Amino acid sequence: MSSLVQRPRRLRRTEAVRSLVREARLAREDLILPLFACPGEGVRREVSSMPGVFNLSVDEIAREAANAFEAGVPGVILFGLPESKDETATGAYAERGIVQEAIRAVRRAVPDMVVIADTCLCEYTSHGHCGVVRGGEVLNDESLELIARTAVSQAEAGADIVAPSAMMDGQVGAIREALDEADFGNVAIMSYAVKYASAFYGPFREAADSAPAFGDRRAYQMDAANAREAVREAELDVMEGADFLMVKPAGPYLDILRTIRDRFDLPLAAYHVSGEYAMLKAAAQRGWIDEKRAMLETLTGIKRAGADVILTYYAVEAARELARR
Ligand code: PBG
Repeated sequence: MSSLVQRPRRLRRTEAVRSLVREARLAREDLILPLFACPGEGVRREVSSMPGVFNLSVDEIAREAANAFEAGVPGVILFGLPESKDETATGAYAERGIVQEAIRAVRRAVPDMVVIADTCLCEYTSHGHCGVVRGGEVLNDESLELIARTAVSQAEAGADIVAPSAMMDGQVGAIREALDEADFGNVAIMSYAVKYASAFYGPFREAADSAPAFGDRRAYQMDAANAREAVREAELDVMEGADFLMVKPAGPYLDILRTIRDRFDLPLAAYHVSGEYAMLKAAAQRGWIDEKRAMLETLTGIKRAGADVILTYYAVEAARELARR
């Protein structure tokens, strides 16, 4: 052998050595499974653009959550498809609303599971926007009260964590104040602090029936080109009382994840969103990629970029795969 002093390949020779020097370790404990609650009983309706993801009635949600917990997934984040929608998103904060019932059902079925509720109005408004609309505009301050009310109703139903995703200015502060006022000082806020206006939410809007009836979300969600603005958004949410920060989507924004990780000490979540999942599924179905490997590589990349928590529709599959190693 020639005298190369540095040979990085020495540490890649066997799986045992590779494992010893592995830097980022994806773990089942990192994963959160998103679930979609719908009315009815015994309902499991597959989302056509998200194979393996279903609209589930409350009884089925409880089963799915128990199943995930058994696979080693510690938490779920719940979304709802209400019976009916209106201008003021009544279904979002109804005491017997669909997500409130789903929270209770998961709590009952799997007491040790972390229950997170997505706190937004878009699934409950007739126009599909994340806030109150007047004159074709999504009004910020008028939306805060309804968002805070939604968070309190989710806390009342038993959520451990509420996760505001509407991108209204001041939403974290409004929620913190309302939760404290209602004696839910122990309910944490996972803020979708850095949420970009993304084409990758497309399949989710089919799953949650939440596509905006007019326009788009670019007047409240962030522009894909902006990185400094992400720091500013995160800073504001820290000041307002966020307990976790989130970056969303994940894969196309790994640089943002790294920046937020380096600048803030709060736990950091990344949302591997519906379109990112759908792309992998579609390529896998055609036999174009090895799905398991592509899935683990994607999630490991998100972890390496700095995420502590990963919200992914692959949570159960990934947990099963990780348990096997
Ligand atoms: C609600 C919300 C959305 C997602 C999470 N919460 C949709 C949106 O902002 O349009 C997207 C999640 C995904 O695509 O998996 N505002």
